[in-house]
Amino acid sequence: MGERRLRSLRSSVSSVLSWRGAAFAARRRPLLSEPEPMSGANVHPSPANPRRMQGGKVAVIGAGQMGSGIAQVAAQTGYAVVMRDVEDRFVAGGLAAIRKNLDRAVEKGRLTAQEREAAFGRVAGTTDVKRCADADLVIEAVVEDLDVKRRLFQELGAMCPPATILASNTSSIPITVLGVASGRPDRFAGMHFFNPVPVMKLVELIRGAETSDSTAAAVRAAGERMGKTVVEVHDFPGFVSNRVLMPMINEAIFALGEGVATPEAIDQVMKLGMNHPMGPLELADFIGLDTCLAILNVLHDGFKDPKYRPAPLLVKKVQAGHLGKKSGRGFYQY
Ligand SMILES: NC(=O)c1ccc[n+]([C@@H]2O[C@H](COP(=O)([O-])OP(=O)(O)OC[C@H]3O[C@@H](n4cnc5c(N)ncnc54)[C@H](O)[C@@H]3O)[C@@H](O)[C@H]2O)c1
Repeated sequence: MGERRLRSLRSSVSSVLSWRGAAFAARRRPLLSEPEPMSGANVHPSPANPRRMQGGKVAVIGAGQMGSGIAQVAAQTGYAVVMRDVEDRFVAGGLAAIRKNLDRAVEKGRLTAQEREAAFGRVAGTTDVKRCADADLVIEAVVEDLDVKRRLFQELGAMCPPATILASNTSSIPITVLGVASGRPDRFAGMHFFNPVPVMKLVELIRGAETSDSTAAAVRAAGERMGKTVVEVHDFPGFVSNRVLMPMINEAIFALGEGVATPEAIDQVMKLGMNHPMGPLELADFIGLDTCLAILNVLHDGFKDPKYRPAPLLVKKVQAGHLGKKSGRGFYQY
């Protein structure tokens, strides 16, 4: 399927699993564009008023759950977006997910049909990585695999002009290592969004060993323009989010494997007893069991501490191809 087919798909596609669109409240001016004068009436521009947030191009590499979500929020906040994946069917799937989310936002009255068309019209899908070369900010959201990401950043570092900032949405892979692979470790940072991107408010900004202050400021400004609260952390395995979250998910899988309780019972205990909005097994299915396993392996290798060893049941699920919601089966059926 070529570019033309992708373009026609963009206008006709209407269904793929996705999550609620969200109302955004970007509070800062766009960093990757010329600042516009702010009037008192427009100090809180929102995607519903994209005229206030024009300018800048963001390239998103990977059109899966995270890449499509990042592309959507970037487009809704006025960036021109190019979203790249390795095969046309993955690009088409990402565009379908964006369309579905935007349609739902219109149904719920959060966007007008005109705003939906404007946002969707700002996203171009491609399999050609060269179309990312003129972006101000490249956000990588491909599979959680060190070698794949390293190769990609070598390619991006060689291809993009020196001013381009490169960022990774990795859940756990060291930002310092990826920054070195890119050949521009000062203009490299972690930009860790959460799933579903249009809904979740956090971006964990991870500074690698050589991330410059101006790069951290640029990534912060881009995250805030996309309506997120940006929290800065240092580069350690799992950063903060997954260093704390994954041991809990892993322990729930151990408990399931040991026959302590059913998946439903484990999730209910954590939801009703700890006031978590989702149980750990439900959440693992939602994140993707392959991604959970990859993160635990990074924690295990990084800290050399057996407390992070992945539960055998998690390994078995991934070997069986039961990856959670995205594959239709994990701890639950979808
Ligand atoms: N799933 C989550 O909840 C979550 C949350 C935060 C961060 N992350 C991170 O985001 C990244 C992506 O996760 P996901 O859940 O979207 O995975 P996913 O499996 O849904 O999507 C990954 C996509 O990357 C594509 N891809 C692989 N190699 C590529 C390449 N060289 N160029 C372009 N595309 C390529 C795949 O075809 C696939 O479409 C991972 O690093 C993951 O750890 C995931």
